[in-house]
Amino acid sequence: MNISVATTTDARAMANLHASRITEGFLPTLGVPFLTRLYRRVVLSPVAFAYTAREGDEVVGFVAVASDLGALYRSFLLRDGVRAALPSLPAVVRSWRKAIETLRYPSRTSGAALGTTVLPEAEVLAVAVAPAVAGQGVGASLVRAACAELHRRNVPGVKVVCGAGNAAALALYATCGFAVATQVEVHGGVVSTVLVRLAPAPGGAVVSNG
Ligand SMILES: CC(C)(COP(=O)(O)OP(=O)(O)OC[C@H]1O[C@@H](n2cnc3c(N)ncnc32)[C@H](O)[C@@H]1OP(=O)(O)O)[C@@H](O)C(=O)NCCC(=O)NCCS
Repeated sequence: MNISVATTTDARAMANLHASRITEGFLPTLGVPFLTRLYRRVVLSPVAFAYTAREGDEVVGFVAVASDLGALYRSFLLRDGVRAALPSLPAVVRSWRKAIETLRYPSRTSGAALGTTVLPEAEVLAVAVAPAVAGQGVGASLVRAACAELHRRNVPGVKVVCGAGNAAALALYATCGFAVATQVEVHGGVVSTVLVRLAPAPGGAVVSNG
């Protein structure tokens, strides 16, 4: 299995995996063309990046991360907004409330204080692997590669919002050093779990979330 930094040529494969494997949230309802533009922006943005897992020529997994999700969404709206939204217009019109909730969500959570925990700006946007390679450690290798890159960029911590009932994803993040921080409702009535992984302290230990 080859884990490497994603490029624009991987955007469509990432979009296909997202659309077929991630059922949570609003983004999958916008379709593969929209997601392809989004992942193209992710790999071009200075505040985001992605890794893919390949078996031969085939992309069988990916992880996408933003060190500043609000800045990524702003640059996506500015540079891709109209062209990305046009093919997805019916879905946006049908679910305009969810579209606004998705765009407002970074400012609701980034830097938010929860007791003694401050949620990091950085966020894992998505991780998915093809069914054929599930349960073989590919997801964990991708998330660990992403955390190492955040560390290299001196990003102090990262969060992820995960469906409260998504056992595979919760287990994946736990094994990669994330701890449950809180629960949020990004879209009314749907509870998601927010997990946080803080950067290793200078001595090498991971700082406690509490
Ligand atoms: C979540 C997902 C990426 C995990 O990838 P994966 O390559 O199968 O995970 P790994 O093999 O690296 O396993 C990582 C840990 O999760 C556990 N795990 C994997 N699948 C699991 C499942 N279905 N149920 C419970 N635990 C599971 C593994 O046992 C391992 O834990 P361990 O280190 O304690 O043994 C994969 O299931 C997937 O693509 N799901 C659909 C997309 C999705 O829901 N993404 C998350 C939302 S953004």
